[in-house]
Amino acid sequence: MCGIVAYIGSKDAAPILLEGLQRLEYRGYDSAGVVVANKGLKMRKVKGRVADLAAAVPARFKGTVGIGHTRWATHGVPSDENAHPHLSNDERIAVVHNGVIENADELRAKLEADGAVFLSETDTEVLAHLIARTVKEADSLEEAVRTALKRVVGTYGIAVLDSERPGEVVVARNGSPIVLGIGEKEMFAASDVAALVRYTRQVVHLEDGELAVLKADGFHTFASDARETAKEPLTVDWETANYDTGGYEHYLLKEISEQSETVARTLRGRLDERFNVAHLGGLNMDAREIRSFRRVKIIGCGSAYYSGQIGAQLIEELARVPADAEPASEFRYRNPVVEHDTLYVAISQSGETYDTLAAVQELKRKGGRVLGIVNTVGSAIARECDGGVYLHAGPEVSVASTKAFTSTAVAFALLALHMGRVRDLSPADGRRICEGLRRLPDQIKEILALEPEIKELAQKYAAAPSMMFIGRVRGYPVAREGAQKLKEVSYVHAEAYPASELKHGPLALIGPEMPTVAIVPDDELLDKNLTALGEIRARGGQVIMVGHRAADPKLADDCLVVPKNEVELDPILLGIPLQLFAYHAAVALERDVDKPRNLAKSVTVE
Ligand code: F6R
Repeated sequence: MCGIVAYIGSKDAAPILLEGLQRLEYRGYDSAGVVVANKGLKMRKVKGRVADLAAAVPARFKGTVGIGHTRWATHGVPSDENAHPHLSNDERIAVVHNGVIENADELRAKLEADGAVFLSETDTEVLAHLIARTVKEADSLEEAVRTALKRVVGTYGIAVLDSERPGEVVVARNGSPIVLGIGEKEMFAASDVAALVRYTRQVVHLEDGELAVLKADGFHTFASDARETAKEPLTVDWETANYDTGGYEHYLLKEISEQSETVARTLRGRLDERFNVAHLGGLNMDAREIRSFRRVKIIGCGSAYYSGQIGAQLIEELARVPADAEPASEFRYRNPVVEHDTLYVAISQSGETYDTLAAVQELKRKGGRVLGIVNTVGSAIARECDGGVYLHAGPEVSVASTKAFTSTAVAFALLALHMGRVRDLSPADGRRICEGLRRLPDQIKEILALEPEIKELAQKYAAAPSMMFIGRVRGYPVAREGAQKLKEVSYVHAEAYPASELKHGPLALIGPEMPTVAIVPDDELLDKNLTALGEIRARGGQVIMVGHRAADPKLADDCLVVPKNEVELDPILLGIPLQLFAYHAAVALERDVDKPRNLAKSVTVE
């Protein structure tokens, strides 16, 4: 979603803020702005991209302390006025904000009655006016911000600058991430470590309710009751190079193409072929506890949820524990029954998705045991869970998730193997799965080598107004994710159905104008899947079959043959050609591949 950066030190703040905003642009990008303090506040903000903002910032924009923002509109259309920062009327206070202030209308009415003049339609502006009022009576900016935030209902990650106290920046978090970066006689803050790694690897994550005061020579953190809190800095290992396109035309293609390596990283050090088990050091649960669970419930949003569906099948097949996945955004609103013999697993690439975080918090409140399968080390969801598995897939920059999706499925295979081997998975099946997992990185390379063929197919079908994706049992979540990728990045309408459900309704849609991508693995359901293809062809539908063998031309117009692994692990591989298909369809249609319209990476609002 929106991105925040803050800097205080002895260097010129503006170039650092602009560079940080560029790194965050993938989170949100309809407008951007910066403010620096130097004998008063100097501000520039524009509707458009960070490059437009950089062009609008004059050379004389000097100051060694400042805050910046990229916006993904929630309250008010994208415009210069609605872009952040927002200033108080006396231009003393500047605020940037991620999140949603739920009682903004009520606060705005009260502030207007008190003489505040609003210049934007945003919920954020109330914060600037509120702090401008509290700062007059407070002994410090920290106290002023804390007092103002007491009147606020909603979520926020904020950075605040006071022109009369240019030696500090105050940041605060409640439901929207804030990370501090510790430099040499300089401090940074951002909503994502992506903005910090160029300058420092030493970071501190704020907890909900925490506030921090940054000065050039260090920082202090406080709980909401003003008590000072002690924080241990964490070293992040993500390289700046992860945030470059590395010679690829788009981040999306780069991230799809690095999956052989990222899957190898997810597996590294976790397979033990002597005992045919998986070692997952971060679970914080012993074998007895793992054996005690009678059910597994997986939650996540969007593609994370679809990878959870693959995970549920792996757990049922390998550990023989009933498992299912549900969107975290639904789960948290239906007052779920939290059972003590259920293992809950939360999935998130960013570790900051608000719906997933809120679901985890609700589970914890009710005594649920929650594991996290998370990519971002130290993120809010990772911290909230009892234990978990990090993906080690490296930062994902393109809005559409690809390498994190695949690595999540791999992490589930490890978890299922681990659970299975302390329950009743045989050593022989354990070995079969270990060996299958070891083969994945090379098999992914083979799939990536199919890119020219997949590109041709994508170009052939990109003009279709709509596409159907079908799969059965193991293939169904793969079909759902394939449809999700296509619609997200190419804007081609796509529907996913279980192949078995076709004749219960969606077959009515099939005709020459609606091609079908069919996931047809070589498993015990092969014949049933082939029958479904015959039904589509009989209605004049075109079929692209994605499977393990060449298709009978009577059943499919086109075919992608991918390497075969163990039946349980095949879904991990079958999803990758669909990522390339979506990518090349989007390129053929000249879409904004890495930043699809209306979407943002890491949805930190409800
Ligand atoms: C789709 C996509 C989204 C995310 C979802 C959850 O390509 O990226 O559907 O998967 O917003 O995000 P995380 O995994 O960060 O919780």
